[in-house]
Amino acid sequence: MLRLVLIGPPASGKGTQAEVLTKCLSVPKISTGDMLRAARANATELGKSAESFMNSGLLVPDSIVIGLVEERIALPDAQAGFILDGFPRTVPQAEALQELLGRVGTPLDAVVQIDVARELLVERATLRRMDSRTGQIYHLKYNPPPAGVEVVHREDDREETVKKRLDEYDTMTAALLPFYSALGLLRKVDGAGSPQSVFSQLLSAIGK
Ligand code: AP5
Repeated sequence: MLRLVLIGPPASGKGTQAEVLTKCLSVPKISTGDMLRAARANATELGKSAESFMNSGLLVPDSIVIGLVEERIALPDAQAGFILDGFPRTVPQAEALQELLGRVGTPLDAVVQIDVARELLVERATLRRMDSRTGQIYHLKYNPPPAGVEVVHREDDREETVKKRLDEYDTMTAALLPFYSALGLLRKVDGAGSPQSVFSQLLSAIGK
């Protein structure tokens, strides 16, 4: 049983780590980025409302993402815990999550911040590629896709948009760190090392 939030700037490795943690701890990964991309690909009303924000590197309005997460964590597979990747990103989102979990008596266990310097993040994002079929994440330099795997380059991973997303993170998300620190939930790991070293740090940060 684990209810965990991963916080970190764009391309800091939240998705990569959440993928491994989900297998290791048998709780689902809940990524608002993945959910919004799926809604956009299916051209749902929600996807259409989110699209222009996502393409320009801005955060989607709180009311949209809070509703998405509320529905997702009510599903049966999330009752034994979850790993939230990319949510919350603003203090109102964090307050909504606290309220939601408080109502059902299932508080968060930990919030882990993955810390990576900005210079590294631009390279990680612009060279990221994703398996169009499975969603598996690769990196052209650090973890190239195997031959024959069809990969896509995310629309918002072009350099100019990545820089905007990093600015947006600094403006909107940095306020979350004192919020969770005040609740005694915040731990920090250095995300600059290899994925394996980040994973080991994460496990110790959550006491596993
Ligand atoms: P989202 O998809 O959540 O994007 P993000 O937070 O910007 O995070 P990324 O997916 O870019 O990166 P990551 O940290 O998961 O890194 P990854 O593991 O892939 O959100 C997209 C958009 O949706 C937002 O801009 C916004 O518009 C909207 N949105 C989503 N949630 C929202 C919310 N709550 N509120 C409002 N709007 C929201 O790794 C990156 C690359 O580096 C990969 O290629 C990987 O292979 C490589 N890599 C990973 N770890 C390492 C390592 N240790 N060493 C070397 N390479 C590594």
